[in-house]
Amino acid sequence: MKRYGVFFAGMCMAATAWCGPVGSEYLLQTKNTSLAFAKEEGTWLLLHYGAKISQIEDARLLASKGFAGDSWLGYRKPATYSVNGADTYFEKTGNKFGGLAVIHADGVLSTELADAGAETVADRDGVTHLVIRMKDTVYPFTVQQHFRAVYESDVVETWVEITHTESAPVRLVRMDSAALVFPLISKRFYVMTLTGEWASEGQLVESPLALGQTISLTSRSGIRSAFGNNASFMLSLDTPATETAGRVIGGALAWSGAWTIGLRHDQIDMLSIHAGADTGSGAYVLDPGKTIVLPKLMLTFSDQGKGQVSRNFHRWARDIHIHNGNSSRPVLLNSWEGAYFTFTEKTLTDMMDGVKEMGGEMFVIDDGWFGRGEFARDDDRRGLGDWVLNEKKLPHGLEWLVNQTKDRGLGFGIWVEPEMANTASELVKAHPDWVLREKTRALRQGRGGSQVVLDMTNPAVRDNIFGQLDAILQSGKRIDYIKWDANASVMNVGSTFLGKDRQANLWFDYTTGLYELLSRVRAKYPDVMINACSSGGGHMDYGFLHFADEFWTSDNTDARQRVFIQWGAGQFYPACMMGSHVTVVPNHQTGRTTPLKYRFDVAMSGRMGFELHPSKMTADEVAFAKNAVAEYKRIRPVVQQGDLYRLVSPWQNSYASLMYASSAKDHAVIYVYGLNRPIHSDYPPPLLLQGIDPAKRYKVTELTREKGKRPHIPVDGKVLSGDALKNVGLPIRLGTEYDSAIFELTEVK
Ligand code: GLA
Repeated sequence: MKRYGVFFAGMCMAATAWCGPVGSEYLLQTKNTSLAFAKEEGTWLLLHYGAKISQIEDARLLASKGFAGDSWLGYRKPATYSVNGADTYFEKTGNKFGGLAVIHADGVLSTELADAGAETVADRDGVTHLVIRMKDTVYPFTVQQHFRAVYESDVVETWVEITHTESAPVRLVRMDSAALVFPLISKRFYVMTLTGEWASEGQLVESPLALGQTISLTSRSGIRSAFGNNASFMLSLDTPATETAGRVIGGALAWSGAWTIGLRHDQIDMLSIHAGADTGSGAYVLDPGKTIVLPKLMLTFSDQGKGQVSRNFHRWARDIHIHNGNSSRPVLLNSWEGAYFTFTEKTLTDMMDGVKEMGGEMFVIDDGWFGRGEFARDDDRRGLGDWVLNEKKLPHGLEWLVNQTKDRGLGFGIWVEPEMANTASELVKAHPDWVLREKTRALRQGRGGSQVVLDMTNPAVRDNIFGQLDAILQSGKRIDYIKWDANASVMNVGSTFLGKDRQANLWFDYTTGLYELLSRVRAKYPDVMINACSSGGGHMDYGFLHFADEFWTSDNTDARQRVFIQWGAGQFYPACMMGSHVTVVPNHQTGRTTPLKYRFDVAMSGRMGFELHPSKMTADEVAFAKNAVAEYKRIRPVVQQGDLYRLVSPWQNSYASLMYASSAKDHAVIYVYGLNRPIHSDYPPPLLLQGIDPAKRYKVTELTREKGKRPHIPVDGKVLSGDALKNVGLPIRLGTEYDSAIFELTEVK
């Protein structure tokens, strides 16, 4: 099946590589990396993935067969797509670990893919797109493997598409998007990943991947894809990489449903990387003539440590993957922690006044605005699924409420949870079969004792939800922002829409159904921002984030814990997406009290916002906030679109520090956060800055200063050279436990 339309020679001129048929080898180039392939005996093999090389012939010579008889270095062929049952071992034992495992229509378990032609196809400027076609040697079963190399950001997207015309459906037991076997590249590997749960997202863990071991990462749910593990990793070669040194392969899978990633260091030191959608407890049934397009795995490489790997992902995300990645995100106030379910119109207009006074730009009404009659959403037990205005709370209507924000010069945002419903709702009463459930078991219900998941595989369900969202967006007229929440896991593994022999398709088809719904919203409302929320950071995955402008990083808004959570999120996801709100103390999740300045300083390192009732702030607090918001707006371009440099990790130190620098190196901002006050000293070592130009001169200014307090640096207001800031470093003082500071560097010509 041709998916990429006609090939126009002219269209390829601007791309970084030529287009057209590929011979027996191919070198994909990005700015600093190369991916080299060669075809041998009908199989495409990976010659090199890493720092840049110029000649594929050299890679071929260096990686050639030889040391182990007539085989590749070692026994195992470095297949670009390793398949279950194929001859990828020298000993011909069959490959039990392939990324693709198929039960063919006649029951045969093995698949043997042979080359069926490779070519480059037209793509956008700066992207080289290679397609490798493979066909089973016996069955009418084909796989297209894609590699899309994004020049500027050093990211390669890879995925496969599978189709067949066998006499009956085939069953895909494993259907990984990538199953790359590397040639011998190291004998030591270390894997850094993020783990987490509700209110504890982004926890950083690192461990060796010992000889013979596989590290297996997985989502624990078909929906909150980023709880459990995040679908991403950094794999260091030789030694655990630091922020600035070491060879690192980074990976991130764009999938919001159930997924699996496997990093394998086999008994002969070969490395393989598998990643894809998880078929759960069954197999995906693929009908003849149908094509399944599997999610993208993004890979990047740097020999300059983990910091560069993060910057590559951020750049790629902003430039080509997320919605409006290079435009600035507004400072907003979200109503949740300030009001929860209990509000009147006056509560909301007071909040609007408050955020306006502080210099904010948008008001977002969170949960509680919808449902009618007995299903009015006054708590979390009812109303989900009925996206109609709660007229008891909002008697003047939605358009009136939206106009209240517009009259104040603010944007308007609204919370929805489109994939879920309460059994106490008009929707579920009318359509009990629209809910995921096993026919024979009691319905398990989630939050509020009555929450269920809607069957996104069913087009009728999606039509209904789209219709309801559309009606809201139409009746609100000028809605600028949707907070798209998803607060459940798949609790009941069953669909009345999918046939009895296709129940396991649920895991995949749920997510493609969700993407179809999101695409419809995106197509009709291209200017509406989408915040990806799933009980906090459950949708920190590049699948959902393709449709989104930002995500809600965590329901945990404790500023100290946010230093860690945001440190984790920033490993793979850019700051412009990272919702980070100032909330009240004691913190609602942890009970901790941190100073107002600390809370601002933490929020100002992401997409800053508020989640409190401003009328409860003192005049001094409002004055502090006004100044901080004005300063944030000035540094916003460098925070949201700059390059992240992590200077001091909170995981190993009693304080943390990070900075952003503009790509022109004319503007930078540095953050320092105390975490535990050491007994013996107020003075951490000088901060050796990064990302700035040693030849430039910069004015250093401390931001968010508190009245009457000493500056945290002895050089506030001074002009210093980039080389001294990098090599001597910025001397800082941190006094009390939760002391913090922000410094701005501006180039002086
Ligand atoms: C989830 C979100 C919160 C809030 C509530 C509302 O927990 O993560 O930010 O929107 O739902 O019910």
